[in-house]
Amino acid sequence: MDWGMNNRISRMIKPSTGRSVMLACDHGYFMGPTHKLENPRRTIAPLAPYADALSVTRGILRTSVDPKWDVPILLRVSGGASILKEDLSDEEITTSMKEALRLNVSAVALSIFVGTDHEKQSLINLAKLVDEGEELGMPVMAITAVGKELEKRDAKYLALACRLAAEIGVHIVKTYYCEEFSKVVNGAPVPLVVAGGPKLKTEEDVFNLVHNALEAGAVGVDMGRNIWQSEYPVAMIRAIRAIVHEKANVKEAVSIFDDEKAEKSKRVESATRL
Ligand code: 5RP
Repeated sequence: MDWGMNNRISRMIKPSTGRSVMLACDHGYFMGPTHKLENPRRTIAPLAPYADALSVTRGILRTSVDPKWDVPILLRVSGGASILKEDLSDEEITTSMKEALRLNVSAVALSIFVGTDHEKQSLINLAKLVDEGEELGMPVMAITAVGKELEKRDAKYLALACRLAAEIGVHIVKTYYCEEFSKVVNGAPVPLVVAGGPKLKTEEDVFNLVHNALEAGAVGVDMGRNIWQSEYPVAMIRAIRAIVHEKANVKEAVSIFDDEKAEKSKRVESATRL
């Protein structure tokens, strides 16, 4: 692999563990001011020191991410649809590779919509991006979006979508965790990270998802709502880091979360007493 490509990937997927905790903050590109991401800088700033990469669009990068922060950027370059439309799959490339290079990002990311009316459009856009990425040393991540059709998140569908992306030549895939996730991993010979999806009921549910995904062969997470919609986002990301990078089990992650949460509550209590 080309040196630049390899270096960019190694900034995000840490060579010491072969794993990564990416923080997804790109929801606004089709959802608008998502709950607890209304003010992106306020959400991102306390979490950035714990992220191996930040998933954002160029608008949020420019306005809400300090260029002096030492965090690799995973730039979303697809868009064109909003939640107001029934069909979310009609996306195009919204940010050029030249812009990605100018912004000094570590990878670009684009959603593919396998099985929708715009399947071909999204796959051809992905192929164009991979061609350009190969030429310029820029890794490309495919995101196996399923839009509003959450029931499609089974191993058969996700294995198909991830494999199609791998065949096109992507360097990383972001997908969803599902039952029999090892079938998804085994069918796609590229590193896979999992999204979290909408907020789960308990912290333990999130830690189980992360732990099971890694056990099945994922290299990490690119997770958003289950971290920053938590009342204790820093505690969440620290506990997830322990699972991903330190092989913590779910029980240990819960105890890291509880300790962090108690610390935070103490700090708030003493600040309000002053
Ligand atoms: C938005 C995305 C998100 O980055 C992805 O879904 C991860 O975020 P979450 O963990 O909140 O699902 O691709 O389209």
